[in-house]
Amino acid sequence: MFTAPFAPSKPPLPKDLFGAIADLKRDLNAVILAHYYQDPDIQDVADFLGDSLGLSQQAAQTDADVIVFAGVHFMAETAKILNPNKLVLLPDLEAGCSLADSCPPAEFAKFKEKHPDHLVISYINCTADIKAMSDIICTSANAVKIVNQIPEDQPIIFAPDRNLGRYVMEQTGRDMVLWQGSCMVHETFSEKKMVQLKIQYPNAEVIAHPECEESVLRHADYIGSTTALLKCCQQSASQSFIVVTEPGIIHQMEKAAPDKQFIPAPPLNNCACNECPHMRLNTLEKLYLAMKNREPEITLPESTRLAALRPMQRMLEMSR
Ligand code: 13P
Ligand code: SF4
Repeated sequence: MFTAPFAPSKPPLPKDLFGAIADLKRDLNAVILAHYYQDPDIQDVADFLGDSLGLSQQAAQTDADVIVFAGVHFMAETAKILNPNKLVLLPDLEAGCSLADSCPPAEFAKFKEKHPDHLVISYINCTADIKAMSDIICTSANAVKIVNQIPEDQPIIFAPDRNLGRYVMEQTGRDMVLWQGSCMVHETFSEKKMVQLKIQYPNAEVIAHPECEESVLRHADYIGSTTALLKCCQQSASQSFIVVTEPGIIHQMEKAAPDKQFIPAPPLNNCACNECPHMRLNTLEKLYLAMKNREPEITLPESTRLAALRPMQRMLEMSR
């Protein structure tokens, strides 16, 4: 007689996921922090939405017992660096980052050895191990401000994003040694398609994230972090915008300026690769399950956490 292999059936998800998440949030005394690149449903249940700087600031000041981080691994790790005694949950532990992966700690240690007199400024999009090897952390919102505070005669290594690094060099007039990492999403935008889009929408303002390549940024009317791009759409007199970053943020742009038009910049091929495949691993269902099961949890060796905390604190102080 054939017996089907035993497969435990999964308990059904609640019909009203939004309501169930609200209940869990209250029961756990949890706060949901979400990046703008998350699915709209996740953005809608978040207590705080922001760019990496805003989310770090929220993580530094929350009095919740549980932080549910709807973003990628390095962001949740940053929340843990700042909150060793809180439970930090990431809905999908596989939600990584190509930029963070482009800077392996062992290779970075050798790179640092070649420039022993350099101060290390690392973009927050890196692992806790890289943060632990850095002097100051920065984000796309404060990188220029932070580099401008470093004495002129102090040589600097900037890691891991070569595009943000080059943009900061242009803005500050500083020469820096750049680690050659990049974001797979922001390098997918093509100059050719950008120019075609500008011809198609001649009145649109081009707004871009500094993780894009120079060939794309040179066509931008405004360059800034995701929060800065969102503010730009609200404050600008323009009625239409070509948005050159991950299109998840358009959900907030449409909410903030419902009468304006937002055109996502297309990727090089006819794929959906302008969507971050890591960010999009998180779903509302996974967020609910993470809260219900209190896992996957972010943990860190205490020695790494303490070493990574120092440059994070310097960033928070220098961005005031
Ligand atoms: P910001 O959050 O600093 O705008 O950076 C965007 C990004 O790529 C996050 O991974
Ligand atoms: Fe990393 Fe780029 Fe995705 Fe941001 S958009 S999480 S930098 S891969």
